[in-house]
Amino acid sequence: MLLHVPSVLDPGDLARVRALTTGAAWVDGRITAGTQSEQAKNNLQIPADAPAAREAGEIVLAGLAKSALFFTAALPRHIFPPLFNCYRGTTNAFGNHVDNAVRTDRATGKHIRTDLSATLFLSRPDEYEGGELVIEDTFGTKSVKLPAGDLILYPASSVHRVEPVARGARVASFFWIESMVREDDRRRLLFDLDMSILGLRGSVGDTPEVVRLTGCYHNLLRQWAVV
Ligand code: NI
Repeated sequence: MLLHVPSVLDPGDLARVRALTTGAAWVDGRITAGTQSEQAKNNLQIPADAPAAREAGEIVLAGLAKSALFFTAALPRHIFPPLFNCYRGTTNAFGNHVDNAVRTDRATGKHIRTDLSATLFLSRPDEYEGGELVIEDTFGTKSVKLPAGDLILYPASSVHRVEPVARGARVASFFWIESMVREDDRRRLLFDLDMSILGLRGSVGDTPEVVRLTGCYHNLLRQWAVV
């Protein structure tokens, strides 16, 4: 499932994260790439242990914690500490690749299975040309460029790339999520059920049928969730 989550960062938090990334020391993005993806990767990143990355990452995590849409779609068990990348000048693209299946948080030594990938756009679309995130999956090919502060959630199993940035700079936060529900199709079903119940509750209220459907949601989640 591909999901656009709007306004993960409010304007104040977005400005703070942008200021932190602007003042940071950027290095070659291949520091976090696997052997295949490092061939395709040509961008800049802030080292994970840089104070700017840590502070900005905490703001991103706080924004995610406030997003009910993110929670119900991702059902996060663990979130990899957010990283930050920039595409500009001669370091301006990332060719087709699949993200590594397991990531290790160097600070804690903890392994995280990457069920979902996320990109949180920090640059406004009018600040750069190109730089679309192109995601290829069983549902076809989708080209994504979102307003600053918005996030795209997509299966980490998909082949994806970032098109060359021809003008300006594209700054984003990116990270991975290990979900309580590993299977994409089960997560999709739970998401559709949850959103439908939410709609019904708004239109008809908590009828006995809505209460039973809510029970179905939780009983399915109970069967499938690993916490
Ligand atoms: Ni990737």
